[in-house]
Amino acid sequence: MIDVKKVLTEVEGWAREVGEIQRENFRKDDLEIDTKSTVTDLVTEIDKKSEKYLIDKIEKNYPDHAILGEETGAHHKESEYLWVLDPLDGTNNYAQGLPIYCVSIGLEYRGKAVLGVVYAPYLDEMYTAIKDGGTFCNGKKLKVGSEKELNRCVLATGFPYDKLTNPLNNIDYFGELVPRLRGVRRMGAAAYDLACVASGVLDGYWEMNLRHWDVAAGILLVEEAGGKISHFRDDREYSIIAGNKEVVGLIENHIKIVDSKR
Ligand code: IPD
Ligand code: CA
Ligand code: CA
Repeated sequence: MIDVKKVLTEVEGWAREVGEIQRENFRKDDLEIDTKSTVTDLVTEIDKKSEKYLIDKIEKNYPDHAILGEETGAHHKESEYLWVLDPLDGTNNYAQGLPIYCVSIGLEYRGKAVLGVVYAPYLDEMYTAIKDGGTFCNGKKLKVGSEKELNRCVLATGFPYDKLTNPLNNIDYFGELVPRLRGVRRMGAAAYDLACVASGVLDGYWEMNLRHWDVAAGILLVEEAGGKISHFRDDREYSIIAGNKEVVGLIENHIKIVDSKR
């Protein structure tokens, strides 16, 4: 059994070093950018470099552990531990030169999250959580927001890459919810959205069709900050609502209204 507290210190170090690579290359003129599943789904040389850096560290320090990385997929090993990596969350922002991007590292033991680290290099914000140990940002303990009415809430959301071909593309939920809110943000990095829910900077968040690596660390940040996560579509991907339990309930109700009209 590993000592998760000790591992966290080590992982924070990796996140900072990866963040340094990302910051150094941010807005560089000749950044190499390719496309993946669709023309809107990007990958840069820095996504790949960041993932390689993290995988090298894990393989060196925890050679028996399994890894799932966004850019290189599953590194199958018979292990009770699984590292889930989004080496650069917010690739579109990064490629555009928008400073909201982060590295997200989750660790699961027997299928349950035990450690989550989200580091936003441009902002120098290090969000950390370990199971039953609370959530922190740069050493300060975090708590989710306390709003209980949607018209006092600022929520974030996001949209899948296959918006044109996917009939379930969040536009209907967006149309139902936005008029009822104080405000909405599309920040472009799911892990950072969840970190902001954990800190109470955002009152809540919903998004559909996310992948394991988008949420592995962020879900633990929200839960350990006293928040709730609910899953609103029964699919292989992650369609989630995050916030305090009242806000999650209110968002759920509006999602049900849209679903009942389909
Ligand atoms: C994306 C971001 C975005 C979300 C997308 C994700 P990537 O991750 O988190 O906010 O809306 O669904 O795929 O591709 O930048 O790592
Ligand atoms: Ca992502
Ligand atoms: Ca990514």
